[in-house]
Amino acid sequence: MAEPLIRTTHLIKEYRMGDNIVHALDGVSLDIAAGEFVAVMGPSGSGKSTFMNLTGCLEAPTSGDYVLAGDNVARLQGDELAAIRNRRIGFVFQQFNLLPRTSAQENVELPLLYAGTPKPERRARALKRLEQVGLGARTDHHPAQLSGGQQQRVTIARALVNDPVLILADEPTGALDSRTSLEVMALLQELNRSGITIVVVTHEHDVANFAQRIVQFRDGKVVVDHTNQAVDARTLLHAPAPAPTSAAPAAVPAPAPTSIPDGAAA
Ligand SMILES: Nc1ncnc2c1ncn2[C@@H]1O[C@H](COP(=O)(O)OP(=O)(O)OP(=O)(O)O)[C@@H](O)[C@H]1O
Ligand SMILES: [Mg+2]
Repeated sequence: MAEPLIRTTHLIKEYRMGDNIVHALDGVSLDIAAGEFVAVMGPSGSGKSTFMNLTGCLEAPTSGDYVLAGDNVARLQGDELAAIRNRRIGFVFQQFNLLPRTSAQENVELPLLYAGTPKPERRARALKRLEQVGLGARTDHHPAQLSGGQQQRVTIARALVNDPVLILADEPTGALDSRTSLEVMALLQELNRSGITIVVVTHEHDVANFAQRIVQFRDGKVVVDHTNQAVDARTLLHAPAPAPTSAAPAAVPAPAPTSIPDGAAA
């Protein structure tokens, strides 16, 4: 088998809080192949964000190994870690983390500004990504002039602008209504089909169901890891019946549509 994009080996992250040590990650060994779409689930405090921060090279582990695209990055610190991160990884967060008094275009250009990319190239690359996420007509809008879903698409364009191999999304739909969540997940699936590896943290089973693999954390450990028959978000977006809402309990079936032609609801 080809070498995985992500390989963590007995990854440990401890935080010292006064006299106590918090074991945020307690020996996580996980391989994620290039091109996978993985959902990370688990209760609050189980280590999901810590795992994302370590795999995203935002923090270094206390011990253990992390090989990203063939490079062991576990012992890197500061600028070296930032260089790997800027070159390979795009981030999408629940709170969109956009600069408020700055246009969509400039928000997307930001990672390129940090990377020292010349202005004409910055503009062109940011515009291309905004068009890709369907916001070519909104480049001058500030975040407050965009809907939640549009703001999240700006953050996805920003995550893409450095041509990452990996997108890490921590609760990307947590602040969105169910229809908008579906649009964001359809976009992530489309990016995945183009070859980008995607890891999404979510509390919602409906969202996890768009992934090909579901990994569950508990107490800083991986306790469940299984493949999943991924639902295609595009087909739900275009389905005539209302899409299942994340707010509805799984056990309650959606109301049966009354006037749908045979087979259309399958
Ligand atoms: N910077 C930190 N300092 C101290 N403890 C931390 C820090 N970051 C996380 N922790 C602790 O590590 C554990 C795992 O936290 P983490 O944020 O990874 O959980 P999570 O699974 O993302 O939870 P949630 O679903 O609530 O976002 C928690 O007990 C948390 O309190
Ligand atoms: Mg978290």
